[in-house]
Amino acid sequence: MEATIRSLTAEDPIPYELLLLADPSRHLVAEYLPRGFCYLAECGPQVVGVLVLIRTRPETMEIVNLAVGEPYQGKGVGKTLIGHAVARARDMGVRTLEIGTGSTGVGQLLLYQKCGFRITGVDRDFFVRHYPEPLYEHGMQLRDMVRLGLDL
Ligand code: COA
Repeated sequence: MEATIRSLTAEDPIPYELLLLADPSRHLVAEYLPRGFCYLAECGPQVVGVLVLIRTRPETMEIVNLAVGEPYQGKGVGKTLIGHAVARARDMGVRTLEIGTGSTGVGQLLLYQKCGFRITGVDRDFFVRHYPEPLYEHGMQLRDMVRLGLDL
C-alpha cells in the first residue's frame, strides 16, 4: 500500500487514537509530543499511521511512537515510516537512531531488526516504573523494554 508521509501541522487534529495504540499512556504521549517531530502517513485523505521522533542526546534521536491503524497493518506502512525516520534523522545530522519496545512485542522486534536496528540493551522494569496499571501482551505481564539502535 502506497502511503505518503508529511509533518503534522497546527491545523491537524492530534491523532491520539493511533498514538495510544503504540503507547497506552496519554500522560507520556502528551509529555513528548510538544517537543517531538510528528509525522502522519496518509493513504489519500485517510491518516493511517503516525511517527514521533525526539532529540535525546547530542547526535541521537529516538522513535518514541510508531503506529499504523489496525486495518492498514501488514501492508508496509510501518516500514515506510521507519524509512522516513531514518531519512529525517540523517537530514538533522543524527548519528544514532534509537527505539525501545516491549519484550513481548515479537512482531515489533522483528520489524525493527529487519530495518537494520540492533539490540543494545534492556531497560528492566521500565513498564512497571512508568505505567500506573500493569500491561499485558500475549498473556503475560510486560515488564522490560528492549532497547535497539541504528548507526546512521
Ligand atoms: N509479526 C511478524 N512480523 C511482523 C509483524 C508481526 N506482528 N509486524 C510487522 N512485521 C514485519 C512484516 O512481516 C514485514 O516484514 P517484510 O517486509 O519482510 O514482509 C515488516 O515487519 C514490515 O511490516 P509493515 O507492514 O511495514 O508493518 P506495519 O505497517 O504493520 O507496522 C507496527 C508495524 C508495529 C507499527 C504496527 O503493527 C502497529 O502499529 N502496531 C501497534 C502499535 C505498536 O505496537 N507500535 C510499536 C510500539 S514500539
